[in-house]
Amino acid sequence: MASNDAAWMREKKSELTVGPAPYALPQNNQILIKNHAVAINPLDWIIQCAGGLTYRWLKYPTILGSDISGEVVEVGSKVKTFKVGDRVIGHAVGSDKDSNNPAEGGFQNYTAVLEQMACLIPDFLPYESAAVLPLGLSTAACALYQSDLLGLELPSSSAVSLGRTVLIWGGSSSVGSNAIQLAKASGYEVYTTASPKNFEYVLSLGAARAFDYRAPNVNEEIIDALQGRDVAGAIAIGETGAASCVKIIRKCSGNKFVAITTPPVSFAELSDSNHSRFKTTKFVARLIGSNIKLQLDARSAGVGVKYIFGTTLKSNGIAEAIYGDFLPQALSEARYVAAPPAKVVGEGLEDIQKAIRLQQSGVSAEKVVVKIT
Ligand SMILES: NC(=O)c1ccc[n+]([C@@H]2O[C@H](COP(=O)([O-])OP(=O)(O)OC[C@H]3O[C@@H](n4cnc5c(N)ncnc54)[C@H](OP(=O)(O)O)[C@@H]3O)[C@@H](O)[C@H]2O)c1
Repeated sequence: MASNDAAWMREKKSELTVGPAPYALPQNNQILIKNHAVAINPLDWIIQCAGGLTYRWLKYPTILGSDISGEVVEVGSKVKTFKVGDRVIGHAVGSDKDSNNPAEGGFQNYTAVLEQMACLIPDFLPYESAAVLPLGLSTAACALYQSDLLGLELPSSSAVSLGRTVLIWGGSSSVGSNAIQLAKASGYEVYTTASPKNFEYVLSLGAARAFDYRAPNVNEEIIDALQGRDVAGAIAIGETGAASCVKIIRKCSGNKFVAITTPPVSFAELSDSNHSRFKTTKFVARLIGSNIKLQLDARSAGVGVKYIFGTTLKSNGIAEAIYGDFLPQALSEARYVAAPPAKVVGEGLEDIQKAIRLQQSGVSAEKVVVKIT
């Protein structure tokens, strides 16, 4: 049996350290992936900064990491889609409350992944490029397709225009890059926001129009542009997204709903490990206060709002529709691209902590990736 190593998070708020980990055989409904690349998400540093304020169920030591790509080395007894040797991406869900299991974390050499959260990748797609997909894709899919969020039509290879428009606030982010592509493949027109330097990028993914989210009158510009259109709802990415989307969607006709990825205050404020209890209390008060304001504003505007949790698709049929039915062919025909592009910043488990800090310091239309050999 092969030996395994992991970048462990040994206690709350600690840095990752590399050490031996069990080589865990997959459960019946899982595959075991030998990882060749992992990508970094804001969630990784948010868990490190936030202590017990989020993911409070996590048992330590734990193994973080959602995005992996690699080769299948073991398959569970009930797995039908994959065989040993397949090249795949996988969305690792080891930090979810219902798994809370280091064997299912991404930041190690071997990760157990649910069959429905993995997808074959074409030979032309390098592992480093493919690793950018899972959490961004899953989160976008939850937002667009879950009936408790936007409840839109699923994507297909032959989408026809449905004559409806989706607003994706934050289109150059990882979640946004996937939301644009999915919505387009479902037949929706996409309006999005980004920095002007990324307009060409978001248009290349399929957006019809892009707006500068920092422009002082951006809300009014988008409201004007959406007049006369049937709006299918909005996805709000970035701290300012939800408040703006509520203001915009209230003035539009169609589905008055905003699916939210990001709270109005940033957990990065807690990244200083020496911060005082007072600072944490103040942060929590602002977090609660800003969320209450958002809910009240939305209610008085007649707009529904709800936070997304980017792994809920694993148990409602949407994972099968996206990772199983849609993505393999769309990737192999290059109708869907692995976006945003990978920025490879290191090689080996030892480089993951550095990569997490780099992602926290800010990215623009790119995804931080570490090669795993
Ligand atoms: N709820 C969930 O389950 C879930 C899952 C995944 C992610 N998230 C959250 O969703 C957000 C996006 O995650 P990600 O991995 O996609 O992030 P990311 O790729 O690291 O985001 C960076 C991008 O965000 C854009 N951006 C930053 N602030 C913005 C704002 N106020 N308005 C519009 N765009 C803004 C930047 O655009 P420009 O460079 O063009 O300026 C940049 O391209 C994060 O807050 C993350 O924590 C939540």
